[in-house]
Amino acid sequence: MVILRENQALLSKIATSDQHGENSPYFDGWKAYDQDPFHLTENPNGVIQMGLAENQLSLDLIEKWVAKHPKSSICTKDGISQFKEIANFQDYHGLYEFRKAIAKFMGKVRGNRVAFDPDRIVMGGGATGASESLMFCLADPGDGFLVPTPYYPAFGRDLRWRTRVQLLPIICNSSNDFKITKEALESAYENAIASNIKVKGLIITNPSNPLGTTMDKETLKTLMRFINEKNIHIVCDEIYAATIFNTPEFVSISEVLQEMEHDPMSLINPGLVHIIYSLSKDMGLPGFRVGILYSYNDNVVSSARKMSSFGLISSQTQYFLASILSDEEFVEGFLSESSKRLAKRHKTFTQGLEKEGITCLASNAGLFVWMDLHRLLKKPTFDEEMDLWRLIISDVKLNVSPGSSFQCVEPGWFRVCFANMDDQTAEIALKRIHAFVVKKGRRNERAPMNNKRSKSFQKNLRLSFSSRLYDETNMMSPRVMSPHSPFPRSPLVQAKT
Ligand SMILES: Cc1ncc(COP(=O)(O)O)c(C=O)c1O
Repeated sequence: MVILRENQALLSKIATSDQHGENSPYFDGWKAYDQDPFHLTENPNGVIQMGLAENQLSLDLIEKWVAKHPKSSICTKDGISQFKEIANFQDYHGLYEFRKAIAKFMGKVRGNRVAFDPDRIVMGGGATGASESLMFCLADPGDGFLVPTPYYPAFGRDLRWRTRVQLLPIICNSSNDFKITKEALESAYENAIASNIKVKGLIITNPSNPLGTTMDKETLKTLMRFINEKNIHIVCDEIYAATIFNTPEFVSISEVLQEMEHDPMSLINPGLVHIIYSLSKDMGLPGFRVGILYSYNDNVVSSARKMSSFGLISSQTQYFLASILSDEEFVEGFLSESSKRLAKRHKTFTQGLEKEGITCLASNAGLFVWMDLHRLLKKPTFDEEMDLWRLIISDVKLNVSPGSSFQCVEPGWFRVCFANMDDQTAEIALKRIHAFVVKKGRRNERAPMNNKRSKSFQKNLRLSFSSRLYDETNMMSPRVMSPHSPFPRSPLVQAKT
């Protein structure tokens, strides 16, 4: 008998589809890093990982707290008395102490201007698991969600792969610092309707990954009015809420909802509003897989809670987090110190780049900068962007993420993560960029003082916006044809974070 160990035909369509994005050429960057990872002493010429949005700058504070509070772990001599009870706990509502502590933490991160109800906290395996559960609750296969570009590459996998919903880009560009406009929103919606796609909602990431910017209250209100007018959902991924290191301060959709609900003229339906949260970025604990879905819709809370059985947070982790997050003095100090350290690293990094004539989009949040290298492209095309990106990996030995992986419509932008390394490594990364710019002979070319690109560049790009609109959705919907684009289609990309 012949055993077909690799016969894909025996597997499901989901398992064998490439919607996970991992076959994308962009993974070459990760491979390059994995094959030759930088180490200060053991491999100083290796590739520096700047494609990972991790917050490692304040982990020492958590380590110190853990050392001082051995009872917070059920696996220590001091905490073992709780071992049996916690090890046996498996209720999908979660430990009440955990939900209470996380609800309080979410309020604190939002300046206590709004309070969260522990009974609306639903657990997920990171924001990844929480957001997929939410998609399963809100949409059926083929339904669409509008998403402003550029957006987190793994949304293609997390929100779409297994749920089979479609992501419909709302085109944003550098002419107004990638802010979402009413026109772009309406146009994306109208295009979807014209293509017979049922639009179920709008997904935003605030603060933005990859831009590192926050949305102002007026924009959020416009979005709220829009989704209420169309009677569709709004999903706000706020997992970078506590990474704010500069003004303006962060405004959560929960605050806007609170304000609009009290305005009798607003006619807002809170049941359309859902928040995705996680401790992966704000506390730098992506390995703990703590994801939260907070919904103002009772039916969503109830369905998502049943679904959460597929991706619960371990009771040991819940127990530990309930202890640490209930220590208000620690939380206060941690948030303030973390923000100071992010501000410092961001400043060092952006100033270092400025010395080389490289500008970044002005930002106040996140663990990365959105770096503008369009001056280094021979032509404004995504092929050129890919060539430059390959050069940065092979010659400069930095793994950064190209803008096309974020569905950015303008070639030449790169996301560079700055919080997943120590000071010395950050310094070496800057030195390598310096050497690269000198080699390219572009150091003395000063970048324009603002972030806007030249008018001719913008004009060139405008031609491409509408044509790229449905490039990504084509992968899901053969009904929507992609018109010819002057830019090659940016492949769907998997970036890990
Ligand atoms: C915007 C956004 N959402 C979700 C995630 C996934 O987070 P988690 O590690 O909590 O699953 C990330 C990680 O980079 C992200 O940037």
